[in-house]
Amino acid sequence: MHFRPAVEADLDRLLGCVVDESISWAHPDRLLSFLESGNYRYDHIWLALAEDGEEILARAVWWGFPGGKPLAMDCLYVHPSADDRVDLAAGLLDHAHAAFGQRPAYHVFVSNGWRDNPKAAAAIAWRWEAAGRAGLTEELERLRYEWTADEPVPESPDRLVFHGDDDDEAFVAAFRRVAEGTLDYSTRQALVTMDPEAQAREDVNDYKSMPGDRSWWRLAYAKDGDLVGVALPSANNGGPVVGYLGVVPEHRGHGYVDDLLAEITRFHAERGVQRIAADTDMGNAPMARAFERAGYRNFAIRLVLSAKPEIAAEPAEPAEVENPVNAG
Ligand SMILES: CC(C)(COP(=O)(O)OP(=O)(O)OC[C@H]1O[C@@H](n2cnc3c(N)ncnc32)[C@H](O)[C@@H]1OP(=O)(O)O)[C@@H](O)C(=O)NCCC(=O)NCCS
Repeated sequence: MHFRPAVEADLDRLLGCVVDESISWAHPDRLLSFLESGNYRYDHIWLALAEDGEEILARAVWWGFPGGKPLAMDCLYVHPSADDRVDLAAGLLDHAHAAFGQRPAYHVFVSNGWRDNPKAAAAIAWRWEAAGRAGLTEELERLRYEWTADEPVPESPDRLVFHGDDDDEAFVAAFRRVAEGTLDYSTRQALVTMDPEAQAREDVNDYKSMPGDRSWWRLAYAKDGDLVGVALPSANNGGPVVGYLGVVPEHRGHGYVDDLLAEITRFHAERGVQRIAADTDMGNAPMARAFERAGYRNFAIRLVLSAKPEIAAEPAEPAEVENPVNAG
């Protein structure tokens, strides 16, 4: 067995890998278009090859922003002839993770009710076991929503004033406030290892890397000028998305989430958009309820398997540190 990253000369063999299971995968059209856009890169595709160095026995494909690090594993394929596909896949992930110096999460798209669908449950089961052996032990289910143009645009109660701002620092400050007490798993995990300002800055940079326009971003203010939240209509490779929205802690519980989501939906609808996609964690109940009130439909699940966050450095004097989030 031989593990290595792919190179351009592997393209034909990469296109020959077929996942015939009820699970999302990097099919040939996706592979070609993402290699072209830079969201996939040969060095972010890892292969397990037979001794002859010719046949691909396993393949893992990571997605990222063009020019960036691998952010999410998109596809895990093992040739049907493999004796122990869990062992082979786990070995492949270990080699790739060692080369990346990190363990990006695995994102799997499945239908609602996948646990009751034996084909989907089987497709996930062995991948889940392999991912777990390679250190991706944390499980998160995200609800996938869509709004389509045959739905009315949700009404806004006209309580807030929305402004763009060219200064990224205004958004870093707003993101930082909105992250306080968030129910979003990824933000909470990031705050275990990162200082809140660094976390907010990283989020702003990630949203800037998306295909949506930076000029679409809005800060939301109450009529008295107080900052209430952020609303970021955006887009990814699949088309328009809600992007991000959040309410600062002191304004939560007044349904402002509806105003922000209405603003994002109205913004896209006025551009003639036919479909807006959005995800939220199953545990983020206020957000999920807001999508449903606004006419968004839950059409699928995104399963995310990730590594436990590693705390980089222990505080020197733990007894004196009040807030471990800020200790590193
Ligand atoms: C999700 C969010 C926008 C909801 O905003 P909101 O305007 O307060 O929502 P609602 O007013 O509809 O709140 C409904 C209920 O949930 C509660 N709630 C809202 N956010 C909460 C939070 N983070 N933690 C605990 N409870 C929360 C409200 O207090 C309210 O409770 P009540 O019914 O007992 O009065 C807000 O929690 C937030 O900004 N979270 C961080 C960012 C985030 O998760 N964005 C979505 C990413 S996909």
